[in-house]
Amino acid sequence: MKRDFLVLEDFELEGKKILVRVDINSSINPENGEILDDTRIRRHAEKTIKYLADKKAKIVIIAHQSRPGNLDFVPLEKHAEKMSEIINKRVKFIPDICNAKAKKAIRDLKKNEILMLDNLRFHDDEINVREYNGRNFEPQEKTEMVKSLAPEFDLFVNDAFATAHRCQPSIVGFSSEIPTIAGKVMENEIEQLNKALKGKGNPSLLILGGSKAEDSVKIATNFLERGIDKVLTGGLVANIFLTASGIDIGNSSKDYIKNKIKNHKEIISKAKELIEKYPKNIEMPNDIALNCGGFRKGILCEEFDSKAFVENLSDRCPVNDIGVETVVRYITEINKAKKIIANGPMGVFEEKEFSGGTMEVFSAIAKSEAYTVVGGGETAAAFNMYGLKNDIDHISTGGGACISYLAGKFMPAIEAMKRNKEKFSKK
Ligand code: 3PG
Repeated sequence: MKRDFLVLEDFELEGKKILVRVDINSSINPENGEILDDTRIRRHAEKTIKYLADKKAKIVIIAHQSRPGNLDFVPLEKHAEKMSEIINKRVKFIPDICNAKAKKAIRDLKKNEILMLDNLRFHDDEINVREYNGRNFEPQEKTEMVKSLAPEFDLFVNDAFATAHRCQPSIVGFSSEIPTIAGKVMENEIEQLNKALKGKGNPSLLILGGSKAEDSVKIATNFLERGIDKVLTGGLVANIFLTASGIDIGNSSKDYIKNKIKNHKEIISKAKELIEKYPKNIEMPNDIALNCGGFRKGILCEEFDSKAFVENLSDRCPVNDIGVETVVRYITEINKAKKIIANGPMGVFEEKEFSGGTMEVFSAIAKSEAYTVVGGGETAAAFNMYGLKNDIDHISTGGGACISYLAGKFMPAIEAMKRNKEKFSKK
């Protein structure tokens, strides 16, 4: 297969000192620091780290956990323990990133040994140097973190797809100095998401829910332009499209949109343009469930063309789920589809009263014979919660990264890998 970045099979790895960027940012119990969900750690450990260890490389893992100020902004010691457990092999942890302790441990490393450095976001460079200057990655390449670590390594493996939309030194800074290779997780994510973007399969469906409405309108645009047959909407995304088509979703939901999305007017107007351009391809709920003091209240849209729900929604109850009729309509579409891409839940699925729409729609996706790809942190969590994750062809490790990739946005990590291939293939 023709790829515009280097992969592990392109290199002799035995005895090579390899810096591996993974994304093991995980849910952590703030009380005792225990890792609550090891999905990302498992994916990197089983796919890339084990592969490199079997090839007898000298492996140094770098990663981040959370952001400064959060309760789960913790060292990576427990992550290293968890990875050891998963691959049944010691992953030594050093509470340092690029100072003397880390360098000594890196230099002492033997073939087939694995070392994990500390949370990269403990270093100011990773926090402060994160904007793309629009041309190159020089600011990131010039950081102290990159300058002191890069000379220690033969190769840089970027496996952190879930952070591929970020432009931090650990993601893009090493690629001007050392050959940069996509790890197995990165390679697989790009391959699967490309398959979802380009692959044939008619009818093809895009199911968009959740609260990242701005990204979702971009994803919808990207897929409709590429010829997707239908876009089914739920969650806040549906509220945007309902509003864009002139339907009153009630003051409470309207206020939520105004408070949550700064440029809501622009997004609603983009959604309106899409509805006008693709009138037959965008599906919206024709009934909804309101959260009236914690209780579910179903509301039907009498006639879609009448642009009004049966009852006046200008009260204090927000829209929290899609209704039963909509679920039935959406499941009919899902059952006909040959390719399904899903991103975002249909409602506030964390609350039992309002989890019905998401559960029914996601169960139908899992049962479908279609090629199925799901992405986004909340979506993956919902598939996990309902015990459906093994029935999906590809669940992306990425939240924001998956959404950005599907929306066709610039991905600094992937761009750095491409430029690196051009540079090192010429040598
Ligand atoms: C994620 O969890 O989506 C990634 O680890 C990126 O984290 P960030 O949004 O804090 O950069």
